[in-house]
Amino acid sequence: MVKGLDDRQKQEISIPRHIGIIMDGNGRWAKKKGLPRSAGHKVGANKFREITKHCSKIGVEYLTVYAFSTENWKRPKDEVWFIMKLFKQYMNEALSDFSYENIRVNFLGDKNGFTEDLRNLIDKVEESTKNKTGMTLNIAMNYGGRDEILKAVKEIAMEAQKGAILPNDIKISDISDRLYTKNQPDPDLIIRPSGEYRISNFLLWQSAYSEYVFMDDILWPDFNVKDLERAIEEYSNRNRRFGGV
Ligand code: FPP
Repeated sequence: MVKGLDDRQKQEISIPRHIGIIMDGNGRWAKKKGLPRSAGHKVGANKFREITKHCSKIGVEYLTVYAFSTENWKRPKDEVWFIMKLFKQYMNEALSDFSYENIRVNFLGDKNGFTEDLRNLIDKVEESTKNKTGMTLNIAMNYGGRDEILKAVKEIAMEAQKGAILPNDIKISDISDRLYTKNQPDPDLIIRPSGEYRISNFLLWQSAYSEYVFMDDILWPDFNVKDLERAIEEYSNRNRRFGGV
């Protein structure tokens, strides 16, 4: 849990190289206001825009947002449709007026789960932003950490079957190199607002040594730059040992 830190407790702030965010609490936010869940997602999508721009401004190199999991298809059809609509809207913005943003957009997840037009849109956005030199924004859509690891394991098993790799020679990097985050650093900080203390299948492999900041006093649609700063302050005060002393 994170409250405001006392000034005396504050150490030098270190900006995480890679931040992950589980954008949780849209539904509860809407319910509290007597609005449909879609209203929470709409405000949540705008928060996502604001926080993305801010992360890029303060020098975060990689931002990964969890927008839709492999399990989220179980939600009512109209809710899924609405999230896809918001997603498409953002993609179209990224194509039209995103050119002045120095952000590379990348997708984590199984694209085969999307309609053909959405897949094409995703490919276009990835292609048109691939030479940007600023922050990489990973949007996890139809993403599941177990699914991602399973995909890597299957690829390695196929290679073993062909005799291209010996089971005994399989290394940690053989898995990492087959994940959607290939060639990216692991997340340093993972933020989850809304008071849920779970990982929910997000970046399971990559978060082995991530610092988690669970914020139980804020829902995603209310999340703002100050809350991001609180999480970064909390992260800066952690003593990361990566299994050492
Ligand atoms: C979790 O809150 C949120 C989601 C499953 C959807 C997140 C989607 C967006 C923020 C908008 C679309 C994204 C982009 C990239 C434009 P919840 O619905 O589980 O909330 P609850 O736990 O309070 O019900």
